[in-house]
Amino acid sequence: MTARTLLLLPGDGIGPEAMAEVRKIIAYMNAELGAGFETDEGLVGGSAYDAHGAAISEGDMEKALAADAVLFGAVGGPKWDAVPYEVRPEAGLLRLRKDLKLFANLRPAICYPALANASSLKPELVEGLDILIVRELTGGVYFGEPKEIIDLGNGQKRGIDTQVYDTYEIERIAGVAFELARTRGNRVCSMEKRNVMKSGVLWNQVVTETHKRAYSDVQLEHMLADAGGMQLVRAPKQFDVIVTDNLFGDMLSDVAAMLTGSLGMLPSASLGAPDAKGQRKALYEPVHGSAPDIAGKGIANPIAMIASFAMCLRYSFNMVAEADNLEKAIAEVLDSGVRTGDIMSEGSRQVGTTEMGDAILTAFKALSA
Ligand code: IPM
Ligand code: MG
Repeated sequence: MTARTLLLLPGDGIGPEAMAEVRKIIAYMNAELGAGFETDEGLVGGSAYDAHGAAISEGDMEKALAADAVLFGAVGGPKWDAVPYEVRPEAGLLRLRKDLKLFANLRPAICYPALANASSLKPELVEGLDILIVRELTGGVYFGEPKEIIDLGNGQKRGIDTQVYDTYEIERIAGVAFELARTRGNRVCSMEKRNVMKSGVLWNQVVTETHKRAYSDVQLEHMLADAGGMQLVRAPKQFDVIVTDNLFGDMLSDVAAMLTGSLGMLPSASLGAPDAKGQRKALYEPVHGSAPDIAGKGIANPIAMIASFAMCLRYSFNMVAEADNLEKAIAEVLDSGVRTGDIMSEGSRQVGTTEMGDAILTAFKALSA
């Protein structure tokens, strides 16, 4: 069988601790399930800056471009607060997204029944929550030019970011959202700010036209992004798939993540367009950041990282049964009352990162047998 190549980029903060738990799962799958994963490793973020003076080295970029999939931990931390903007830790992640052309960011927010009490919302509002945020990832204000601070010469400076979207960028992300909606609840809610932004007007038009042209079987709704944020915390279960731009998607997905009980729960997949062989470039990462305050303490929740690997099995390798089992293993462990500190509740048993990873691996083995 041909090898499945994975590049692991653990990054900074809790990234390496979380990635260590995925490594155990990969080792088991290779040893017992004949998965044939070949893993390589690289540096990204502050750790890459310390080693190479860049947020990701050219060598590691080449590895990322060559791999079937990239698993990414987290980047950043106070240690690198003062490094030049161009080489700040986040630049490594943004370069990966841009150079791998990963325009579609899938951020599912699922509330495991066992965690409904850990949500900041009332349990009945989030129990059974299953929404998917489809965030545009290679355009908008993140990458638009000009992007600069200019000196106005009168003691004033001007900071400029540019929000820009072309028709094709909106069409292709809308297409991804509609396709995915067909595999779920068949509903899409598109969010923008057409009341103040020209790019929002175009976004709305193109999503509407794309829907009419090819996806009229899917139910489509439009919402202003601020109202969408409000609805997400008021009645999140009204949504199935949400499609939105890069910046709104960044914010709304953090909100959605918190609904599920902890930022430590939410995985994500970033996908490119399929090539001639139907293969997509892909990067999988937890939505949470590097959490420098708890890094190195062995208490971080590895679930978002492990669930990101489950998405990798599903979307990059079509290992659907394995992905289902891994997700089921996570749910079983939560049902059994095992918790990391961030999702701890009365009557549960609090464990550290390694123990949580071990418990999920044990459940996964039992399901795979
Ligand atoms: C995310 C993060 C990144 C983003 C940062 C680290 C650049 O917040 O993936 O949501 O803003 O996209
Ligand atoms: Mg974010």
